[in-house]
Amino acid sequence: MVTQAMRQHQKEGGGNPLVRLRVWDAVATLATVWQRTLLHAVVAPQRFGAAMSQFRRVSDMMFHPGIPHLSLSQIPPAEEPLQMLSLTANYGGMPPQDIYALLRMVHWIRPKRMFEIGTFHGMTTAHLALNSSAKIYTLDLPRELAADLRRYTPQDAALLQRREEIGKEYRPLNTNGRIQQLFGDSTIFDYRPYHRSIDLVLVDACHQFDAVITDSRNALKLLGEKGVVLWHDFGNSRDVTRALKRLAKELPIFHIEGTWLAAYVKGLSMLPRLVGHTTTEAECNVVEAQGGRSC
Ligand SMILES: C[S@@+](CC[C@H](N)C(=O)[O-])C[C@H]1O[C@@H](n2cnc3c(N)ncnc32)[C@H](O)[C@@H]1O
Repeated sequence: MVTQAMRQHQKEGGGNPLVRLRVWDAVATLATVWQRTLLHAVVAPQRFGAAMSQFRRVSDMMFHPGIPHLSLSQIPPAEEPLQMLSLTANYGGMPPQDIYALLRMVHWIRPKRMFEIGTFHGMTTAHLALNSSAKIYTLDLPRELAADLRRYTPQDAALLQRREEIGKEYRPLNTNGRIQQLFGDSTIFDYRPYHRSIDLVLVDACHQFDAVITDSRNALKLLGEKGVVLWHDFGNSRDVTRALKRLAKELPIFHIEGTWLAAYVKGLSMLPRLVGHTTTEAECNVVEAQGGRSC
């Protein structure tokens, strides 16, 4: 079946070589995982469930119909080596490939000020600090301050930490106070002192639809003339994916292929052109209508 699809694609022959390469890679990856999944179904049914979820995971990292995507190789390469710390397998933050993609962005845009919504233990914060000289604000809601735990899904509630646990991974690196920990509920936090002053925002807090929409609107208001908003768990959390697909109807949001990251780029012409989109006047007006000062 795969060979037939490949032959058909070859017959059609045309198109941009990058797109062709991506289609080939995607088909080949999925074919390999599918073949293994089907094999497991026959010879090791007990492994079928795990293989199916692996298949879903791979396709969620690769395909999102209707959302433009960007491959990592399209992000301009870093001049200095990226610094990565070792991550434990069950860490509740970002997987290594997502941290790597985030750091490629950081090295490309060289932010002076970053804002992370959702600190957790601060492993991503530590990576942001190690790979930039930026001032970093990171916001989280201590478990003891959460007004109503019933509004959280069990998975989200499990991520809420006690105050002393929040940011524990970045603290040894924060000898110069470049990282500033903020505490509060991101959906009602007063962001006004930070408006229009941040170059890179990472949205990674509560994963429920309404919270993601509210955090995203706040994140957009933080950007100055130029900057990037990145969201984590696109393709990994149903609500995050749904919220971003909703926002993508109004704004040029794209998925970074092979990761759970989505991005909006403002005032930096290169990336939008690479994904075939430039921010239009109409999109800027939408941000303004949402209360943000735009483009
Ligand atoms: C997925 S973790 C963040 C992971 C972190 N960005 C990393 O990469 O290591 C989500 C975090 O969001 C926090 N959180 C959940 N709801 C929040 C809210 N309403 N306001 C602020 N933080 C919230 C949780 O306490 C948790 O630490």
